[in-house]
Parts: sequence; structure tokens; C-alpha cells
Amino acid sequence: MRRLFPKKGVIKRLLTIARRRNGEEEEGLPGNGVSLPPDGHSPEKPTWRCFSYEEILHSTRGFHQDNLVGRGGYAEVYRGILQDGREIAVKRLTRASPEGQKQKDFLVELGTVAHVCHPNVSTLVGCCIDCGLYLVFQFSSHGSLSSLLHDERAHPPPWELRYKIAVGVAAGLRYLHEGCRRRIIHRDIKASNVLLTADFTPQISDFGLASWLPSQWTHRTAAAIEGTPGYLAPEYFTRGVVDEKTDVFAFGVLLLEILSGKKPVDGAHRSLLSWARPLLREGATAELVDSRLADGSYDKDQLYRLAFASSLCIRARAARRPSMSEVLDLLAGGEASLERWKPPAEEDDEEEDGDEEDELWELDEHEDCDSPVFSLSSAASS
Ligand SMILES: Nc1ncnc2c1ncn2[C@@H]1O[C@H](COP(=O)(O)OP(=O)(O)O)[C@@H](O)[C@H]1O
Ligand SMILES: [Mg+2]
Repeated sequence: MRRLFPKKGVIKRLLTIARRRNGEEEEGLPGNGVSLPPDGHSPEKPTWRCFSYEEILHSTRGFHQDNLVGRGGYAEVYRGILQDGREIAVKRLTRASPEGQKQKDFLVELGTVAHVCHPNVSTLVGCCIDCGLYLVFQFSSHGSLSSLLHDERAHPPPWELRYKIAVGVAAGLRYLHEGCRRRIIHRDIKASNVLLTADFTPQISDFGLASWLPSQWTHRTAAAIEGTPGYLAPEYFTRGVVDEKTDVFAFGVLLLEILSGKKPVDGAHRSLLSWARPLLREGATAELVDSRLADGSYDKDQLYRLAFASSLCIRARAARRPSMSEVLDLLAGGEASLERWKPPAEEDDEEEDGDEEDELWELDEHEDCDSPVFSLSSAASS
């Protein structure tokens, strides 16, 4: 078997991360050119360790096909059981890419996820750099939100669970944007990157595209547009501009997916956004609800909050999307927050300004997407 030895620089970077975990100062490491994130504000410090290849091989029964639980664009994920009985998920990077790129992907994810600690963000258990590159996570026994919503063999999730998941993901995203000392932009918020624990707590996972946004920057420009069609914010796919609002947009699409059980882009290339926008505009919230749910099996107030929040998140102009704190307040907050978000009367006039951003919306699919897409009066009566 060919053994993969990561380049010297990679090992050094990994060690740097490990040392920071142990409270050592980064400055003491000569030639360290990597900008590593500081620990988040969480009082609980994450703990992770390096595994030997033999350990993860044994835990996954030699990466047995029966243990394969998921496959994404970059990796295969296997269920494993450690000797102490703990269940783990071993993420083996598989994307066919130059070795240097693979190592970069690995370090991006490790460098981000090793420093986050929140109940709604997946927890790193460790990594392995022997015979490949592996990340080891706590195992989420209910798989991904995508399989819960779209697997035809599964029962459609009941309303209460959908609401719990929506609020949980919002809390996780708020933590990434505002709770960490440095802002983390996830860049790939979608249903298959939300995992569900044994008690269906949602956890944001897959930090392969995540980026750190230094406090003095409002945004950054991505060289390559990566992400998933159907969830991409307009300023990102047209100009490569990334900031927290890129995630807010994707979260708005995810809310619609949770409500409706429809995929962001279905097999016939129909877009969830184009279907939902007219309904949001008319306030026809009941029509957004997954047709597999029995009539009246949802909470009207919660539906209203979810629909209204999504209508704000999917606005074309990033500046007019709410922050995740505001979204969370809308989803789970009191009456006052709803009042605060009433679209102002003059908003219609603003839409007609026809500035540069409006021109981005020539695509059919995104027609009218920055209009006040949610009608409060009609929603209240639905
Ligand atoms: N910790 C975990 N527990 C259970 N299943 C997981 C876990 N991590 C990932 N998976 C499964 O593997 C899939 C791919 O994982 P992901 O990290 O998103 O890989 P990629 O970076 O290739 O997209 C997920 O959608 C999910 O179904
Ligand atoms: Mg993924």
C-alpha cells in the first residue's frame, strides 16, 4: 500500500493548530505563514486528537461498504466505532485533485471546525494524516437533513421537527457569524450539510468551503465560485462577493426547502425560488407547506415566521437581508420582532430605483426577487 506523507509544510500547519489548541502562542513558531483562527468565545474548548490509520481502519471495518453513510462532492463518510464504544464518522477526502489542493481543502476544513464549539455545529473528534487525509466527527445517527426531507422511503418530518431544525440551524449560523471571535462564512449552507443527531438536533457540518472574514473587512472576493446551484446568492455567483449575507441567502432557500419538502432545483430543473416567490408575495403561506403533511398539521404562527424570515433572507440586495441574529429573533422571538420587520411602505418605490444590483436580475428564475416578497396583510389571513 502506498503511504501518503503530507508535505513538511502541511505537518507544520497541523502542529500549529494543535499547539494553539493547547494554549501555546503562535508567534513562537518560526516561519509560520498561516493565519489561523483564534478560539471562539465558547467557554467550552473543543478537544480533538490525531488518530492512527490503524485505529480508523479498524473502527470502520476496513472502510467496509456497509459502513458508508454518505458521499459529497469532496469526500466519502464512513460510520465507525472506536474501541471505547464511541460512534464516529470518518470523512475520507476523495476528490480527484492535485495533492496540494487536497491538502488545502483538508486544512481549510480542519482549521475551521477545530475551533468551533456550539450545539448546532458538528463536533470534530480528530483527524488522521496517515495513508490519506481523514477528518473524524461525532456520528450523527439521523443522517442529513437532505435525506430526512427527500428520501422517499422516509416519513416526511412532522411540523414541530421542521420548526426545531429551522431554529437550530439559525442558531448555529448565528454562532458562526457572530459568536466566534472571527467571523466564519460557511459558503455551502444546504440540506445535505445539516446533520441530525440522535435527538434530531441539527448541526451545521462540512466546512470545506468555509472562510474567515477578518474583522476589518466587510466582504471578500472568491477566486472560484463554488457552492451548490439553487442556494447561491446573486452577488456571489455574478461577482464572487462573499460575506455573511451569502449564507443568509442560502439559509432563506433552506427555510423554503424545510417548509415545502421541495429541492432547491428539482430533477426537471425547476427552481424552488421561482415557485415560492409569488406565493410569498401574495402571502399564500399555506400553499408553501409540504403537501405530504396533513391539512392543518402545522402551527400557523410558526409557519408565518418561517415564511416571512425566508422572504427577507432571499432578497437580491445583500444589504437588505437580515443578519442571523435578526433571523433568529424573527423565527423564535416575540411579537415585537415581527412588527420591526414589516416592510416599510416606501420599499416599493425603492425597488424602482433601477440601480446596478437590479440589473443582475435579468434571469427569469430570479425575477422580482428583491421586491417585498411577503405580503403581511394576506399572510395574516391565511
Ligand atoms: N458526522 C456525520 N454523521 C453521519 N453522517 C455524516 C456525518 N458527516 C457526513 N455525513 C454524511 O456524509 C455526507 C457527505 O458529508 P460532507 O461532509 O458534506 O462531505 P462533502 O464535503 O464531500 O460534501 C453528508 O451529507 C451526510 O449524509
Ligand atoms: Mg457536503
